[in-house]
Amino acid sequence: MKIITVIGARPQFIKCAAVSKELRKKHTELIIHTGQHYDENMSSVFFDELEIPKPDFNLEVGSGNHGKQTGEMLSKIEEIYLKEKPDLVLVYGDTNSTLAGALAASKLLIPVAHVEAGLRSRNMNMPEEQNRILTDHISKYLFTPTKTADENLKNEGLSNIFSVGDVMYDGVLFFSELSKKKSQILEKSHLKKNEYILATIHRAENTNHQDRLKSIFKGLEESGENIILPLHPRTNKYIKEYGIELGKNIKVIDPVGYLDMIALESNAKKIVTDSGGVQKEAFFMGVPCITLRDETEWVETISNGWNVIVGADKGMIVENIKHFNPISERINVFGEGNASKKITDIISSK
Ligand code: UD1
Ligand code: UDP
Repeated sequence: MKIITVIGARPQFIKCAAVSKELRKKHTELIIHTGQHYDENMSSVFFDELEIPKPDFNLEVGSGNHGKQTGEMLSKIEEIYLKEKPDLVLVYGDTNSTLAGALAASKLLIPVAHVEAGLRSRNMNMPEEQNRILTDHISKYLFTPTKTADENLKNEGLSNIFSVGDVMYDGVLFFSELSKKKSQILEKSHLKKNEYILATIHRAENTNHQDRLKSIFKGLEESGENIILPLHPRTNKYIKEYGIELGKNIKVIDPVGYLDMIALESNAKKIVTDSGGVQKEAFFMGVPCITLRDETEWVETISNGWNVIVGADKGMIVENIKHFNPISERINVFGEGNASKKITDIISSK
């Protein structure tokens, strides 16, 4: 089967790293990189260290407003589909690259497989929620990470749901050993196991609201903890725009590669984040997670007691950095770490 995979943003490179390895054992895969993320440390670092096959097409779409960015992707992707005539298009997650890849295929009646289908935050103001709902409804194969995702899709009248588990769990299992061997980020950043808090912030609902972003940084500062923050370029831009002064306890570094990120996550005392992927990785690694959002689609991490929602509330951030300590046992609801193989087997049987 000839499969075209469309990726463009950091978490998609990581998801694709796991799936592509399996997929290529049985199928011909071409990769389109939309160019949504383009900085070396947001894109090529992942291709290099995770040995993701070099993209066959790079659309170099870059940053822009949603309509322009998605529209440009759509028209460029369509040209490639028309020329390459794939049997299947594979998309991941909920970014503008996901929607563009799926929509271009759907209009040409090319079947779409959506990995990480069925997630819902119930917050339609999020661009990600719009992207994932639209993508699910035009996809032929819905590969879900959790039972909750299955239920969400069924409740929307969708079928062709394949409960395969979470491909990010595959990634963590596959790359953890390599991370232990190769990463020197702790030494380089003068960090010791369990003596620091890892923070990541990039969601539009935080960065685009000055009051929220300021409150988050005040919370991090007032916690008084040793905080390391690999800074997403979006957040960097807004910190400057709003003139936010960061507390002395917050050490900012550039975004890191995945092997360094696994090392930072697995050795952290706690993780504070608004990232979807990082919430899950905290859970996989057994690190308490404090989520800087008003809701999450990864509801199992909350019901299991290992993740707590604090929004942008300064007091809650301080309180939970100091005192959030999960006591319940983690129940793994994200599959067995073989989602990539399951996806490949299902695609092969069609
Ligand atoms: C996107 C996804 C989000 C995902 C995140 C992963 C959408 C709508 N959002 O958000 O769901 O969680 O990726 O990280 O698809 N920038 C750079 N260099 C880069 C990339 C971005 O400087 O390589 C800056 C630009 O100023 C850009 C801003 O970051 O305008 C935002 O980038 P964009 O891709 O639009 O959204 P993300 O916030 O990265
Ligand atoms: N990540 C990384 N380096 C960083 C920050 C995050 O490799 O500096 C990884 C992280 O481990 C996870 C993924 O990127 O696998 C999450 O991506 P992000 O937070 O950008 O997006 P989201 O998951 O929220 O869509």
